[in-house]
Amino acid sequence: VYHTPELTPDQPLPDCAVVIDVLRATTTIATALKVGAEAVQVFSSLNDLLATSAAWPEEKRLRAGERGGAMVEGYDLGNSPLDCTPELMMGKRLFLSTTNGTRALQRVENCPQLITASLVNRGAAADYLVKNQPKTLWLLGSGWEGGYSLEDTVCAGAIAAYLTEKGVEFTKGNDEVTAALSLYRQWQDNLLGLFELASHGQRLLKLDRLDDLRYCATEDLIDILPKQVSPGVLTAA
Ligand code: MLT
Repeated sequence: VYHTPELTPDQPLPDCAVVIDVLRATTTIATALKVGAEAVQVFSSLNDLLATSAAWPEEKRLRAGERGGAMVEGYDLGNSPLDCTPELMMGKRLFLSTTNGTRALQRVENCPQLITASLVNRGAAADYLVKNQPKTLWLLGSGWEGGYSLEDTVCAGAIAAYLTEKGVEFTKGNDEVTAALSLYRQWQDNLLGLFELASHGQRLLKLDRLDDLRYCATEDLIDILPKQVSPGVLTAA
């Protein structure tokens, strides 16, 4: 479990990276694809998002921009998964840029396998790992500006707990996985309570986004697996 590591150019990448940004980018990505978005294309730069999406037919695109938890002015959406409705999203490409999640995705876009996970699609993500058994795996928490996040770590723990139940053994001495598992086992019956304690949960509560926290804290809600098909482009596997 890493928190958006500063990758050096020669850093060896894992066979598979699972990018986690529970509040809220990877929850939004899973939900958008579930309700029928054609794809989600992610950008760490707002300017790059505008430049690329300008080439897309207006009736086939949505632009979602979030900074500091709030919607960027002039965009169609912020980054609330609750805005992802079939009426709005069906058949369209969602162009998405967020504070941390899209940056984490861009950091590992050269991994052979890149999927996204959140609590709402934890089972689908973990089933992919059981089926594909990557030799090296990063559960990559997006965190906040490179810092630790409770919500991303508890999601990594939820995935590790699911894999453990399926017979996957983690090497001893992996302190981050052990800590993530312990956090999940402590809070699995009160994930919303943990989110309300979390620094980003507090930030979102100040923006009146309790309903987002409730939704993002719901485990195994949707059976959808966002997988990168080309750099920055995710579709439902
Ligand atoms: C992030 O990228 O840090 C989050 O998705 C921000 C948010 O939407 O609250």
